[in-house]
Amino acid sequence: MSSENLTENHTDKSATTLIHRPRRLRCSATLRRMVQETTLSLDDLIYPMFVMEGEGQKVEISSMPGCYRYTMEVLLQEIAFLYQLGIGAVALFPVILETKKDDTGSESYNPEGLVQRTVKAIKQAVPEVLVITDTALDPFTTHGHDGIVDENGVILNDPTIEVLVKMAVSQAAAGSDMVAPSDMMDGRVGAIRRALDASGYIDVRILAYSAKYASAYYGPFRDALDSAPKFGDKKTYQMDAANSREAIKEVALDIAEGADIVMVKPALAYLDIIRQVKNYTNLPVAAYNVSGEYAMIKAAAQNGWIDEKKVILETLTSIKRAGADLILTYFAKEVALILANSDLL
Ligand code: PBG
Repeated sequence: MSSENLTENHTDKSATTLIHRPRRLRCSATLRRMVQETTLSLDDLIYPMFVMEGEGQKVEISSMPGCYRYTMEVLLQEIAFLYQLGIGAVALFPVILETKKDDTGSESYNPEGLVQRTVKAIKQAVPEVLVITDTALDPFTTHGHDGIVDENGVILNDPTIEVLVKMAVSQAAAGSDMVAPSDMMDGRVGAIRRALDASGYIDVRILAYSAKYASAYYGPFRDALDSAPKFGDKKTYQMDAANSREAIKEVALDIAEGADIVMVKPALAYLDIIRQVKNYTNLPVAAYNVSGEYAMIKAAAQNGWIDEKKVILETLTSIKRAGADLILTYFAKEVALILANSDLL
């Protein structure tokens, strides 16, 4: 039917032709729930969390209100509480002491390092919780880049992969359920898969940050880890925000190399990419609702400019609707609390 005909139907009262009334299916809450196409479930959410050295502390991240750096015991208690709330998966990011950082990020594969100790402790305390470990150099390097840097400031691909492989294997040895390379070096998924298999970790999964963009939305996260690059930017390895075909190329490579789940990051400014990746692959698609996306909603809510709970649910639903099966989000705990008290909405 042409749009001209539709207009006619609605305006010409004498017309005997059918008037289409989509509003019929919107007239009650029960009916709206019945025809709802996308539903948000806690099973789809992964909660990124920050762990730091020390004891008995939790320190709020100023650009991410409601998110904290936890010392290990406090983190364990929080994870146990989150599990009761219905959150089954966490993504772990470490705050590394300056004294442990070096040019090559060698602390990242220390079997007694902060990540390795924390994974072991979580697996002992709350074994049901799925632990995802970030496989990237930036929290561990003095310069804050995700790779080894030569004297001209060039990020070296293949030498970086050698470190990433050691890091992934040491995380698996500590009990990580899933390693998540977030660095964007070429060929790292394949190298990690081969090394995990050769070390007997055939069931440790790879969540690949496949289409990761060089984004200004990562600012608050870099505050949290104190990991902002000391020079230059990440544009020689992370993707150009203007590109979409390249995202499919990156996804295709990671799948060929053995990724179990592919990810698009950030989420909100890249909903079109999420949809294209979803249409391209049968693998589960993850999206990372990153720190800057979180901070914007928090800031507006603190000013009383938006209804925070509703905006959170609308935002996460839009990421799912775009095609994400899984969402990494700092809102996970709030969503769990909202869903547990949905009469508040
Ligand atoms: C780095 C990494 C980053 C994030 C996750 N892993 C930042 C970066 O690439 O500089 C960002 C997450 C967020 O902003 O929430 N490997």
